[in-house]
Amino acid sequence: MTDELLIRATDISKTYKTLVDEVMVFDKTSVDIERGTAVAIIGESGRGKTTLLNILSGLDNPSEGSILFDNQRIDTMDERELAIFRNKNVGFIFQHHYLLQDFHALDNILLPLRIAGVRLDSARLKKVWDMLDTIGLKNRAYHFPDQLSGGERQRIAIARALANDPVVVFADEPTGSLDRRNAGAVEDLLWRLKLDFNKTFVIATHNPDIANKCDKVIELK
Ligand SMILES: Nc1ncnc2c1ncn2[C@@H]1O[C@H](COP(=O)(O)OP(=O)(O)OP(=O)(O)O)[C@@H](O)[C@H]1O
Ligand SMILES: [Mg+2]
Repeated sequence: MTDELLIRATDISKTYKTLVDEVMVFDKTSVDIERGTAVAIIGESGRGKTTLLNILSGLDNPSEGSILFDNQRIDTMDERELAIFRNKNVGFIFQHHYLLQDFHALDNILLPLRIAGVRLDSARLKKVWDMLDTIGLKNRAYHFPDQLSGGERQRIAIARALANDPVVVFADEPTGSLDRRNAGAVEDLLWRLKLDFNKTFVIATHNPDIANKCDKVIELK
């Protein structure tokens, strides 16, 4: 483990405006994420876990405050710059897998690479097959999402998040929609991937097993 700083969010606030009111989710919160660590974001429903993930990953902008990612300001980037930034640096795992139904598992995993314009030469494809092996689903590569179990779909979604070799993986309740056994398998996979690939993980979770195994826990109150 290294304690080199990867993300520094300083005094970030987030206010959502709706038709009838303004919702302040957090006020001048600061967060540091060190490279190569797993960080859990916990807190009751509605406290802002998803909001914080979205802001740290450049999916959404804070209302105030600054975000340095690898010493680069991302809160001042425009949509186009952010899209390029995310494509290069960030992988996402959501509670629901969001796999595309018309693509088989392998094509779903390859999607971020295709969007990024990465050449799918034999070395690159071998990496993807190695990943399928790691997640234990080599024999499911040509299954469509509706031909996979819930846990298998989530493992494919994890492989997709890692396909681009991102610096950091953001996971929003990655085991939230799974039963105990599948949640356990997905959890084990996350830890194995963290060890094998030395990625940084930021995980919003209600699951105490996951939070307990993280290097740092941020509780939103
Ligand atoms: N687009 C939006 N417009 C207005 N309010 C929003 C918007 N998105 C979220 N909120 C509000 O912001 C607060 C934080 O929401 P968020 O989704 O970040 O919570 P959470 O901690 O992830 O909750 P959960 O554990 O239920 O997923 C909630 O009170 C929610 O109602
Ligand atoms: Mg949430």
